[in-house]
Amino acid sequence: MSTSRDVERWTGLPYLGAIPRAQARASRLNPSAAVVEYDDPALAASFKNLHATFLRECPGARVVALSSAVPKDGKTTCSVALARTSALRGHRTVLLDFDLRRRSASAELRKPAAVGLLEVMSGRARLDEGLYFDGFTPLYVLPASDDLELVRKAVVKDVFSSPMMTELVTVLRRRFDYIFIDTPPLLAVADTRHIAPHVDAFLFVTRWGRTPKDSVAAAVDLLKSTRTPLAGVVLTQAPPQAPPRAAEKTGVVARGVECDPLSDAHGTLRRRSSLDTADSRRLAGG
Ligand SMILES: Nc1ncnc2c1ncn2[C@@H]1O[C@H](COP(=O)(O)OP(=O)(O)OP(=O)(O)O)[C@@H](O)[C@H]1O
Ligand SMILES: [Mg+2]
Repeated sequence: MSTSRDVERWTGLPYLGAIPRAQARASRLNPSAAVVEYDDPALAASFKNLHATFLRECPGARVVALSSAVPKDGKTTCSVALARTSALRGHRTVLLDFDLRRRSASAELRKPAAVGLLEVMSGRARLDEGLYFDGFTPLYVLPASDDLELVRKAVVKDVFSSPMMTELVTVLRRRFDYIFIDTPPLLAVADTRHIAPHVDAFLFVTRWGRTPKDSVAAAVDLLKSTRTPLAGVVLTQAPPQAPPRAAEKTGVVARGVECDPLSDAHGTLRRRSSLDTADSRRLAGG
């Protein structure tokens, strides 16, 4: 999947834009650090554009989960970058690491958690004890738990479909303007479907030219079946520039950031939105 046309054809969802592949850098930081490092302006700009697109396309959505079909699509990178951008914009923002098995967002933000999500959800710790400050930005993070026995029990009990989940989200909604959630791959783990009733909107992430189209279509169908609004699709790790031959052949320019990845996406989004009227009303709180 490498063009906006592919996205719309295979998912029936709007194309939200592209995140380019990070340029080779001296920095060993994860690509999401571009929003604070300024060593890759094109990457930083694409995350800012994606955040602006999210605000425009999902008015009223405050609990937002990033999802994808398979591992390594770029969910964690986009979740961290979007949450940091939101915090830098002055919104009270928290990032939740709901990938209990990999805990990549917690690792990326260097928050190994003596106390984390599961300790808070089970009542063993207060929310304040589990919230960590990013430090690079005014973002708060609720990391996944490091206690593997607790993780095992949570997985067995489907903790995200328990009343503890309702309590957690209710408390966080009172305290924060935006709650971003990093999730595990949809086709591998059922957790993302369990959190759907608590989420205002999903953003779907897929890796440019890599994730099999059938997998993307199957994962999108699973998300659609939850009836939670799906805002659209982000292509990650796109080449910085469109391959000219592909563009000539298809008539659609692959979205690389140097050719302004979001400009066409904006036009597309204005014409078509996956959020139907009922969804829009729900997102607007009506
Ligand atoms: N724009 C990008 N440019 C270069 N590398 C990237 C980019 N986005 C993500 N990566 C790299 O690709 C790998 C997978 O990214 P990420 O961890 O965000 O994916 P994921 O969908 O969360 O994977 P998982 O399902 O395994 O948690 C990481 O090594 C990350 O650094
Ligand atoms: Mg991840």
